[in-house]
Amino acid sequence: MLKTVKRHLPVMALAAAFGAVSLAPALAADGKALYADKGCSACHGEDAKTPLQEGFPKLAGQKADYIVNQIKDIKSGARTNGQSVESMKPMVEELADADAQAIAEYLASLAEPAAAPAAGPASPGKTLFLTKTCVACHGKEGKKPLPGYPAIAGQDKAYIIAQASDIQTGKRTNGKSNAMQPVMHLVNADELALVAEYLSTVK
Ligand code: HEC
Ligand code: HEC
Repeated sequence: MLKTVKRHLPVMALAAAFGAVSLAPALAADGKALYADKGCSACHGEDAKTPLQEGFPKLAGQKADYIVNQIKDIKSGARTNGQSVESMKPMVEELADADAQAIAEYLASLAEPAAAPAAGPASPGKTLFLTKTCVACHGKEGKKPLPGYPAIAGQDKAYIIAQASDIQTGKRTNGKSNAMQPVMHLVNADELALVAEYLSTVK
């Protein structure tokens, strides 16, 4: 009996002290199970940072509200660029809003996508990221975006180029894309490739 008490007391004390925290694992587990059960891991990777192929996005560490908005936009047809329609739409057509929210919170709770060693301090891509205003909205090293905006640090290079180009040319207009479109005349294709090279290597 004494043994039992000893075993349980610390847990109870913890639960009392960190009531809100003790709920978090349940929610995270739910989103994690859904991420696997709904087939997301097949293309975005079991760890959400090793996508099936080049040009597919990493989702680990992405902001939850941004993820929820993209799912909503792909579902409704507001986002049709790239492979949104062909690859993603069938996967989220039947996805309930609450499930999308749980998956998004799970993904956001994961560490930022791991990537190759960071580019040197003086890389041309980093300089462009800072001088072409990207940093203003996507935050330091692309990690701390404005609310509702995406983190782009450590993202797949081909995906960065494709999405930024689609926003530049107006193929992608969903969500808050119109906040970014007006600055995209500041970069040409070569510069964008350098920025993407830099971002994809940020840890
Ligand atoms: C068959 C492959 C495939 C499956 C399965 C899949 N996705 Fe995707 N997903 C993609 C591709 C490809 C894109 C990029 C679309 C584009 O080219 O614009 C994408 C984009 C996304 C985006 C937007 C990312 C961003 O940075 O804007 C989110 C969020 C997302 N997927 C979540 C999910 C979730 C949640 C599931 C499971 C319910 C899922 N995906 C299943 C292929 C897939
Ligand atoms: C004025 C704010 C702003 C600036 C400046 C800006 N962006 Fe964005 N960017 C956004 C927003 C907002 C989105 C998401 C649009 C949406 O809601 O779907 C976005 C999306 C992206 C995406 C797609 C992310 C994904 O996961 O699909 C990439 C890549 C990107 N930006 C790169 C850049 C680069 C490179 C620059 C600099 C040349 C830049 N952005 C400058 C606001 C900005």
